[in-house]
Amino acid sequence: MTSYRKDFPILDQQVNGAPLVYLDNAATSQKPHVVIDALKDYYHRYNANVHRAVHALSDQATVAFEHARDRVREFVNAGSRNEIIFTRGTTESINLVANCYTGLLKPGDEILISHMEHHSNIVPWQMLAARTNAVLKACDVNSQGDIDLESFAELLTDKTKIVAIAHVSNALGTVNPLQQIIEQAHEAGAVVVVDGAQAVPHFDVDVSALDCDFYAFSGHKMYGPTGIGVLYGKEKLLDVLPPWQGGGEMIETVSINKSTYNTLPYKFEAGTPNIAGAIGLGAAIDYLTQLPRDEIKTSEDELLRLTLSQLKQIDGVRLVGEPEKRISVVSFLVDGSHPHDVGTLLDQQGIAVRTGHHCAMPLMAQLGIPGTVRASFSLYNSPEDVDRLIAGVRKAVSFI
Ligand SMILES: Cc1ncc(COP(=O)(O)O)c(C=O)c1O
Repeated sequence: MTSYRKDFPILDQQVNGAPLVYLDNAATSQKPHVVIDALKDYYHRYNANVHRAVHALSDQATVAFEHARDRVREFVNAGSRNEIIFTRGTTESINLVANCYTGLLKPGDEILISHMEHHSNIVPWQMLAARTNAVLKACDVNSQGDIDLESFAELLTDKTKIVAIAHVSNALGTVNPLQQIIEQAHEAGAVVVVDGAQAVPHFDVDVSALDCDFYAFSGHKMYGPTGIGVLYGKEKLLDVLPPWQGGGEMIETVSINKSTYNTLPYKFEAGTPNIAGAIGLGAAIDYLTQLPRDEIKTSEDELLRLTLSQLKQIDGVRLVGEPEKRISVVSFLVDGSHPHDVGTLLDQQGIAVRTGHHCAMPLMAQLGIPGTVRASFSLYNSPEDVDRLIAGVRKAVSFI
């Protein structure tokens, strides 16, 4: 298996006296040289605002920015570039949809999510429900960490107008049966908003094949910069939604009393966008798509298998969730200790993991735990990283 570690300059460092083992990829991934270079190149050579000027630098920036949109369209197989809206990230993408639906829901309409969702796929819907007097419902997650499909089917009714669901759980790595959920939701007459933050870094996503109505993801979890993300939306839906933020770029004409709005996708991109971020995201997509993604998926799955089998052999370690289908995220607890203490002991050995509720407090409540220690793998992790993690956990257990 090829090592991609050398593509990521940050990984070449010692932390607390040991070579860094970075296992917090579900929070944010590291950035390859090509992405850092693309950002530098933009600021060094052609920094200018997009779409607005006739001068050469602006033209160059606009071409690069719009090229990034085309790369995103291809990456998720959207039918049209009009369906790709640049946002700050998954959170803003979901908030965009939730805000735009304000005028389209009536009291008593229902929004259906799951207990597995990240807070950014819960709170915007709570706020929408509060604005419209709609009702927010959440289907159960079983002790394995899978969505309880019976609970989902029970809660899905002809009152359900929006189903918002994660493609992959950030806390447990569960890959949800999205195709089935989308089909059922459509039969009930609901639109489906997918939180794809944890899916796009790990496997190919085809929004056309999925037939989802909206799909949200962040650049920084897929080797791109922070502060840039994407909302994919079906053109026929985006066309009828009102804009959510007003300002430059999203208008066609403005008089003091009235404005008319720009065409898609600009109607949803008020103000100066994150130009460097979009160009960096395009570079991340170029990087990712020239790699053998199936091979990388197999190697990430192998790291997952190794980690699970070795953690199971440590007395006092309890795995949290054993979902049917998952990506390379492992959540666990060490008996008699708080996850933060385990995380701190691992950090002292140069191993970066995440601890806590992972912005999924309703999931933790459903599982009856305050939080977990989470190790999440990426394409630059290796079996040696797993060995270091396991040795680190053994050491932590011996201290506790
Ligand atoms: C499943 C999931 N949804 C949404 C988010 C929010 O992403 P962002 O903070 O990039 O907007 C995250 C981030 O951890 C996530 O894992």
